[in-house]
Amino acid sequence: MGKTIIAPSVLSADFADFGGAVDQIGASGADWVHLDVMDGQFVPNLTFGPKLVKDLRRRSRAFFDVHLMVETPERIVPAFVDAGADAITFHLEASAHPHRLLQEIKGLGKKAGISIVPSTPACMLSELLPCVDLILIMTVNPGFGGQKLIPECIEKLRSLAEERKKRGLDFLLSVDGGINRETAVSAVASGADVLVIGSAFFAAPDKKNFVDKLRSQ
Ligand code: DX5
Ligand code: ZN
Repeated sequence: MGKTIIAPSVLSADFADFGGAVDQIGASGADWVHLDVMDGQFVPNLTFGPKLVKDLRRRSRAFFDVHLMVETPERIVPAFVDAGADAITFHLEASAHPHRLLQEIKGLGKKAGISIVPSTPACMLSELLPCVDLILIMTVNPGFGGQKLIPECIEKLRSLAEERKKRGLDFLLSVDGGINRETAVSAVASGADVLVIGSAFFAAPDKKNFVDKLRSQ
């Protein structure tokens, strides 16, 4: 999986040292930094807001992949754009007008992503496929790191990859939740271009070795 984009999630980092976590991600040779924003409404957990992204931006030039797990994401998207996010992904289930919001994110010069939770079928994205840069398939119910991947969700990658080919589109397929060295194999074989990895990355004693091994699989 040499060309696969590896995106460690700081959700599993020490929250007292986000700067150190971003440094560790950079030193590991991983590609992106995945930033999980939770509002305590859309998901039963709270994390951080745009101020953290802004402060980390001063410290790192890495690609910041912001995953908004918030209700009415349209209210907070501009703040994350100003903070220096590179890609902003919101949930289909959380927005009344996802098409409009995707256009807005792209209009602000950022990559626009959409995500679905395990209970949402992939076909719900059909009308949006031509206007997305990234689709993030959740393979756990969002809210917490360290959960076990729900295998049925992997099939969505396969059907979206087929649809992409059939319609001549070029969005990235990202997979998020319960990804480790074992589950990464079926995710990539099913069409994932981006692997979001939280607990498995931060649990690895040697993070560079973890990334190298993943790439050489
Ligand atoms: C879960 C988040 C994920 C999470 C993944 O709601 O969206 O990005 O950090 O963590 P692991 O890899 O531990 O499942
Ligand atoms: Zn995430």
